[in-house]
Amino acid sequence: MARFALKIRDHLDVPERKRFYNERHFAEAAPRYDVATRAMSLFRDASWKARLVEALPPVRAPLCVDIACGTGDVAFLLAERYPEGRVAGLDIAEPMLAIARERNRSRNLRFLRQDMCAIDFPEESADIVTGSYALRNAPDLPRAVGEIRRILKPGGTAAFLDFSKPRAACFRIPRHILLRTWCGFWGLLLHGNHEVHGSIAASLSAFPDRRALRALFAENGFAPVSSRRFFLGITELLVFRRSSR
Ligand SMILES: C[S@@+](CC[C@H](N)C(=O)[O-])C[C@H]1O[C@@H](n2cnc3c(N)ncnc32)[C@H](O)[C@@H]1O
Repeated sequence: MARFALKIRDHLDVPERKRFYNERHFAEAAPRYDVATRAMSLFRDASWKARLVEALPPVRAPLCVDIACGTGDVAFLLAERYPEGRVAGLDIAEPMLAIARERNRSRNLRFLRQDMCAIDFPEESADIVTGSYALRNAPDLPRAVGEIRRILKPGGTAAFLDFSKPRAACFRIPRHILLRTWCGFWGLLLHGNHEVHGSIAASLSAFPDRRALRALFAENGFAPVSSRRFFLGITELLVFRRSSR
């Protein structure tokens, strides 16, 4: 494959371009994605993902859908937490899915190539939808949230872990610089390209701040259940319940 030379700033405005960028970006990142995630989070990432799955309700045999599953971390935790359930990990980047499939030892877990904006599951079929570092990558966020609502059963749970965006510029701007420098450093070290992972900061510029993100879920019929911030609020876990209307 040709060297990754795309720039996120040229791809954020149009959903098709963002999807194209992300697919290529994560195909490039895939071989060293797990190392990068552990390093960029100072090895906190695994415990945040564990907190996400612990925050889910006890359900005997749920259908769980993990959107933008990447190399499968959360999907594996779901399969372990719900041994009588079924888990589907969805992602658009085939190289990420290939690693997830290679790591998979669970019989109740499968990995499928699907876009979070066009999820190929029937209406009201899932009990639980999860996503870690997923929503920020949605080509069209309102559409992705609409899809999550469509596939969730009434009363079902949705839980997301991602970088969270403060409203005030005095917090937002230093965070942007910090993320761009720190994540870009790992892109440079692992891929010889600052754009790989360095683009996380720019992806946040087009992402709603904390209040707007909650409002988007509320508009789509989700009630907040719990939230928890990690790392001085750099990342946040949000749990919602889908209303029955
Ligand atoms: C930052 S990674 C997160 C992977 C994994 N959830 C984790 O926490 O380690 C973002 C993932 O989103 C996937 N992705 C990006 N756009 C997507 C889309 N439109 N539909 C499904 N997956 C997408 C990428 O391929 C990538 O694997």
